Amino acid sequence: MEHVAIYPGSFDPVTNGHLDIIERGLAIFDKVIVTILINPNKQALFTLEERLEMLHKSMENFKNVEVDTFSGLLVDYAQQKKAHAILRGLRAVSDFEYEFQMALMNRRLRREIQSVFLMTGLRWIFTSSSIIKEAARFGGDISGMVPDCVKTKLEEKFLCKLG
Ligand code: PNS
Repeated sequence: MEHVAIYPGSFDPVTNGHLDIIERGLAIFDKVIVTILINPNKQALFTLEERLEMLHKSMENFKNVEVDTFSGLLVDYAQQKKAHAILRGLRAVSDFEYEFQMALMNRRLRREIQSVFLMTGLRWIFTSSSIIKEAARFGGDISGMVPDCVKTKLEEKFLCKLG
């Protein structure tokens, strides 16, 4: 039986921290499906198409990974994809409350799907899409925190916003 995990998120944009979790996930699961879902609490900087393109490019050299989008409930998507688990990364303790709430809601909605949390590598503990966007917006150097294609996209985005 193939063990499949869904790695859901906004990916606005994908960071090296996300890639770290995907690599760790691939050490446990046969396949990881990286899926962009809507987070109703966030206003996205990049369009869905832009985020998809960045994810595809960033994962060119990854095996056993699929990239997808879905509009609706995460657990319905997981069921549709015959996934056994929802994969999420944990950085600092501050992530815990939000993740715990989501995991318990997801369990309530579909008991059979497990949430699996992986600890991010130490160097990504303070990396988040939001903090990277903020640094990039004001011309901060974000090299090494995101894949090269994302860095270029962020520079383009903020150049045209400022210009
Ligand atoms: O990267 P994020 O923004 O922390 O990811 C959050 C996300 C997209 C995984 C979450 O908002 C989500 O699962 N959205 C889809 C709707 C849903 O199923 N919500 C959780 C249970 S109510």
